[in-house]
Amino acid sequence: MKLPLAAAFLAFAAYAAPAQAADAAAGEAAFKRLCAACHIVTAEGRRGVGPTLFGVVGRHSGKVEGFRYSAANQKADLVWTPEVLDKYLTNPREVVPGTTMAFAGIRNETERANVIAYLATLK
Ligand code: HEC
Repeated sequence: MKLPLAAAFLAFAAYAAPAQAADAAAGEAAFKRLCAACHIVTAEGRRGVGPTLFGVVGRHSGKVEGFRYSAANQKADLVWTPEVLDKYLTNPREVVPGTTMAFAGIRNETERANVIAYLATLK
């Protein structure tokens, strides 16, 4: 698929722009679009395809009680800091090879930062 030149330029400009303050509200909207089909964000509640992301920032990987993680996620031994989340959400399968999280990643740096800012509010 070819992007029109203007759209390609805008995408590049957004990519090349210096880091801006992340926007948790925009991150919430992106989360609803990209993640909410599989993840809940509350401590309690009906479980999804993925583990709840309540309190995920700063949490050790694979620690949601009662969620059956893949062997890959169980062995990952990561702490979900904003930096690690940024790498993970760029390309989950690269950070946790063999993960069952069927999500290709968020390419846009600003959008990733916004989603992570939103995740940090879940506590
Ligand atoms: C198609 C369903 C699906 C989508 C969409 C999805 N996830 Fe996941 N996610 C999962 C599953 C399943 C796991 C557990 C993976 C495993 O055990 O290998 C997971 C695991 C995770 C983990 C690790 C949690 C832990 O406790 O170790 C994080 C963080 C995460 N997802 C964040 C996100 C974010 C943020 C998005 C949206 C940008 C997203 N996911 C989109 C299904 C999904």
